Amino acid sequence: MPLDIIIGTQWGDEGKGRIVDLLAAKADAVARYSGGDNAGHTVTVAEKIFKLHLIPSGIVHPHTQAFIGNGVVINPSTLLSEIDQLRQAGIEVHPKRLFVSYAAHLITAGHLALDRAQEAARGASKIGTTLRGIGPAYTDKVARQGLRMELMNDEKRFAEALREHFQRVNQTLQKLFDAEPLSIEPLLEEYLGYARSLKPYIADVSALLSDALSKGKRVLAEGAQGTLLDLDHGTYPFVTSSNPTAPGALLGLGLGAACVDRVIGVTKAFQTRVGAGPFPTEVFDQTAQHLRGSGANPWDEFGTTTGRPRRVGWLDLVLLRYAIRVNGISELALTKLDILSGLEELKLCIAYQANGKRYEVPPFGPTQLESFQPLYKSMPAWKENIRSCRHWEDLPANARSYIQQIEKLCQVRISRVSVGPERGDVIEID
Ligand code: GDP
Ligand code: IMO
Ligand code: MG
Repeated sequence: MPLDIIIGTQWGDEGKGRIVDLLAAKADAVARYSGGDNAGHTVTVAEKIFKLHLIPSGIVHPHTQAFIGNGVVINPSTLLSEIDQLRQAGIEVHPKRLFVSYAAHLITAGHLALDRAQEAARGASKIGTTLRGIGPAYTDKVARQGLRMELMNDEKRFAEALREHFQRVNQTLQKLFDAEPLSIEPLLEEYLGYARSLKPYIADVSALLSDALSKGKRVLAEGAQGTLLDLDHGTYPFVTSSNPTAPGALLGLGLGAACVDRVIGVTKAFQTRVGAGPFPTEVFDQTAQHLRGSGANPWDEFGTTTGRPRRVGWLDLVLLRYAIRVNGISELALTKLDILSGLEELKLCIAYQANGKRYEVPPFGPTQLESFQPLYKSMPAWKENIRSCRHWEDLPANARSYIQQIEKLCQVRISRVSVGPERGDVIEID
């Protein structure tokens, strides 16, 4: 059955939204399965730039249905403002088009306050979270004391559950962090208001998607974050609190493994990361300025959700091979190749070195990266602006060699190369 899973292979912001938008042209439905509004996915269609945090990027196409699965954590205020923003931009959003799982958990003002307090308490060892309440919401889910979307169907039960939740949060804020408690009564009013607005969107996403797939409809599972931010497989503890990797799509949508057709990895032509944590190929010199940009262009490397400058570095093939393995990636989409134009030299990290030994894959996953030195293969760059290239032959020879090296060293097929942020700025490779 035709489920395609789109996964970031790095630390997020690989251009997943842009690739989902391309694939959604031929899909019937697009579904988010993990994370929350810590994600920021950009879709550029002519002069319009959409920045989506919770609603799947595929909604920008008028023919798709959009789903938010049980694996997602939902800040109802963000969801409602995103619905409004999309409507203002002329995109239809209504309960026959957007379906939110009854089993998805809520992010509340309590989770936001806890995220802030926890990060402040971590001091120098802070994770650099997006402060969107993600960690505390998933913590409540695992502790079996979370608030699920389905509660919104029953105002009385929801009010009771909210009151208990905010009381518990206040105890933690006061006793553990010596922080100000939240005012519970106005929050109850606020959240009961959200429930009235969101109730019509609550659905059985697992059942709807299974039905669609059994009828042969094509469904895209839109990954958020990236492999190296995965709670189990990422650079722990500098990770997010969910499973963005491919199996997370099945768990987070309520689907079985037999549905999967392709697992498509999205890889930026260089490496970026926001927040703290190891980054073996990070650079700080003029190359860093070139890769990051000044912030003048919408695609420059400044966070879509937080505006923070992203850390940048050379493409790390050790970590890419790892991502291909843990996700079972069948093909890659390479993005932002245009940004490499004009550099003097390109470098690919082909292995690591530590204690006089060479490593082709991280020995215990990517947790001990600090002690590894990258080994680089240097490659010639190109000067031409490649944004108007539409065919493989249009690319400069050095750009083609760069792509072929990645394919060879990772034993993977690159089926798409993105050379600009707009929908049409892409080379499809047979
Ligand atoms: P996501 O979180 O993986 O969806 O990625 P983001 O949207 O956070 O960041 C990717 C940024 O790069 C966005 O501003 C995109 O519009 C932009 N982008 C995507 N692909 C390309 C490309 O091939 N070239 C350029 N110049 N920008 C791109
Ligand atoms: P998209 O979907 C980049 C990072 C944060 C931080 C860590 C934990 O746009 O690729 P959290 O708020 O999740 O508890 O923060 O994860 N992070 C992202 N980095 N892109 C994202 O999403 C991210 N979502 C979370 O910066 O380092
Ligand atoms: Mg992003």
